Amino acid sequence: MPELLLHQALIVDGSGATPAWRGDLLLRGDRIAALGTELHRELDASLPRRDCTGMVLAPGFIDAHSHDDAALITTPEMRPKLSQGVCTVVTGNCGISLLPLLSSEPPPPLNLLAREQFRYPSFTAWRAAVQAAQPAVNALALVGHTALRLRCVSELGRAATAAERATMCALLDQALAEGAMGLSSGTFYAPAAAADATELLALARVAARHGGVYAVHLRDEMAGVMAAIQEAADCAHKAGLPLVISHHKCAGRKQWGHSLQTLALIERLAERQALGLDVYPYLAGSTVLREDLADGLTPIRLTWSEAHPELAGRWLQDIASDWACSEPEAVARLQPGGACYFQMQEEDVSRILAHPLTMIGSDGLPHDRFPHPRLWGAFPRVWAHYGRERGLLSLEQAVHKMSGLTAQRFGLKDRGVLRAGAAADLVLFDPERFTDRADYAQPTLPAIGLEAVWVNGQAAWERGRPLARAGRVLSRE
Ligand code: ZN
Ligand code: CU
Repeated sequence: MPELLLHQALIVDGSGATPAWRGDLLLRGDRIAALGTELHRELDASLPRRDCTGMVLAPGFIDAHSHDDAALITTPEMRPKLSQGVCTVVTGNCGISLLPLLSSEPPPPLNLLAREQFRYPSFTAWRAAVQAAQPAVNALALVGHTALRLRCVSELGRAATAAERATMCALLDQALAEGAMGLSSGTFYAPAAAADATELLALARVAARHGGVYAVHLRDEMAGVMAAIQEAADCAHKAGLPLVISHHKCAGRKQWGHSLQTLALIERLAERQALGLDVYPYLAGSTVLREDLADGLTPIRLTWSEAHPELAGRWLQDIASDWACSEPEAVARLQPGGACYFQMQEEDVSRILAHPLTMIGSDGLPHDRFPHPRLWGAFPRVWAHYGRERGLLSLEQAVHKMSGLTAQRFGLKDRGVLRAGAAADLVLFDPERFTDRADYAQPTLPAIGLEAVWVNGQAAWERGRPLARAGRVLSRE
């Protein structure tokens, strides 16, 4: 088995508990074989070694919230993620998953994921396609309630009937038995909004039986955010499974400052049930184009439009003034499409990010023509901006939120931490230089300061150069 000694790194183990320490890590095959302060003295001098002086060695980052279901297959190099040090992505968020839907024209919001790739009737079929593509990063899949709904419910304006519920539950049960790790929902979006508590609870119970998690894009992240948190928490509590509140935010000017209340509620709920949340480190959200979000107060920047692809990257306000129409009218003419919505406040984002229950998810949209910069920048930005620059997070805390905490939450026992026997997903970066460069004007600029990445023990990235594609589809151990 190939061995490599990573020599004299600043080791940040992902636990969030151990202070960074200077030492060595021995990599053997796809595992971490040993860690220690004096390994370089104890081991054979002929062993291949790499001097890591001045570099942080940390567990490969885990993207708690991705929409990479199709990207793993169509762009298996996975550059946006690998270039940030992400070794594992959680797919199928917000109720939106590629499986088990069969559709040649997926309606919004499923078209965030892909435009026509909905051809995997089961988890096994999707996994086979991912494995055949050999992606550069690992994947852990959630099954989306919206996808199940579109496949099984004949009239989307109402809750599922008992028979439709049974079909959805059977499909979910099969996917979880085949290796999916949980359920997601997004009742904010029309195809799922009509789901009632019975429908969601029935599915959550199936996921609970398999030891899965339940990730929720809340029904409301604006005025009704408190009730929406309570609704999701009650469902997960009754079903008896861990809840993840996705991309937590207080969106819209009227809600600014409300994270004080939402986090207090989340803390109270966390006393009775397993619960976590994820966030991306930006003030803009991004989703499909919606007329109701064009409120005249929120600056909106187009990320893609099928009707007018050439306008991607432009401000909606400018488009509307060119066309001499209202913003909602411009939205209607640009459909289908997506946009960045500048709807959050810095104090809320910082407060949510710093909370001990919060992990990092990019929510990146890999198929957008002019994407939100979170796709290429979320992970380095957490450290560069909120850690190094502003001192909101220590290095140990930042790494924990991007690795160990996420692994714990999603039930990955041997990832997200550096310890002997764990999977060798590793990231090596210069703590003084590691910085995101993607912004709203140049959203696909890769980060700088990332030295190297190993995925399952194989060198996957070296100073801007992609190497082996060694990702796997992960299942519960
Ligand atoms: Zn979402
Ligand atoms: Cu999402």
